Amino acid sequence: MRSPACILITGASGAIGGALAREFAAPGVTLTLHGRNRSALDSLAAECSRRGAAVRLFAFDVRDIDELRRWGAQIGSEAPLDLVIANAGMNISTGPRGAGEPWEAVEALLDTNLRAVFALVDAVLPAMRARRSGQIALVSSLAAYFGLPVAPSYCASKAAVKAYAEALRGWLAAEGIAVNVIMPGYVESAMCRNMPGPKPFLWPPERAARVIRRGLEKNRARISFPFPLNLGTWLLAVLPAEVSTRILIALGYRD
Ligand SMILES: NC(=O)c1ccc[n+]([C@@H]2O[C@H](COP(=O)([O-])OP(=O)(O)OC[C@H]3O[C@@H](n4cnc5c(N)ncnc54)[C@H](OP(=O)(O)O)[C@@H]3O)[C@@H](O)[C@H]2O)c1
Repeated sequence: MRSPACILITGASGAIGGALAREFAAPGVTLTLHGRNRSALDSLAAECSRRGAAVRLFAFDVRDIDELRRWGAQIGSEAPLDLVIANAGMNISTGPRGAGEPWEAVEALLDTNLRAVFALVDAVLPAMRARRSGQIALVSSLAAYFGLPVAPSYCASKAAVKAYAEALRGWLAAEGIAVNVIMPGYVESAMCRNMPGPKPFLWPPERAARVIRRGLEKNRARISFPFPLNLGTWLLAVLPAEVSTRILIALGYRD
């Protein structure tokens, strides 16, 4: 069982990241919390401090890749990071009546959901490899299993993150570094509310954070939930693609 003392979470100003910070906050734990919304970070920090954690806050846009890489490397060199959770992310959709995904939005999404995740891993990994320990968790989505017609770029970015985490895990296990992919279903958040289509088995972020924490403690390769949606989305990936697409359209995943 892993019990990390020094934890970095990106996107902590959001629903899942904030719930994870609260879940891990305890005496003896140092939380490095990131986001853009300073007031959300401030109130989260106050709550985590009340729970006994030491908290450091950082507000910047992860699409500034140079700043992100500098920051990740610096935090990792100041104190050994036991756990890094790359959670910051955004979504876009094809919009009303399937209008399409504006290119600027696609670029912002790829920078946030993909390049920033890869860059953070690149920045924190050398220190972990040097001391042969550490844990990196990448937040993907159940939407990684099969592309939803309402959100092509989002699903593609999360599928890439899933494959990246799986490959990193195989590469780095022999060096004592754990890598996990987190695949949530629908969790109440601003991002989730903006996502078109039905949202079955919607979970509160606190429940998601508890399940993620348990999965990380047990070093599960894939932390995916809730069970019925996990099974359903996994089946979409193994069924013939034509059938899966027909099912998704019938369920309302096309505007
Ligand atoms: N909620 C779901 O149903 C669901 C399902 C599957 C996967 N996920 C994944 O879970 C993760 C967290 O999402 P959430 O549901 O908690 O959404 P959320 O409440 O909207 O939080 C998103 C977080 O990402 C941060 N962020 C977004 N773009 C950023 C940027 N360019 N630079 C810095 N920070 C940025 C936001 O910061 P600010 O708010 O401070 O700008 C916020 O802290 C995402 O990776 C998402 O794809 C969510």
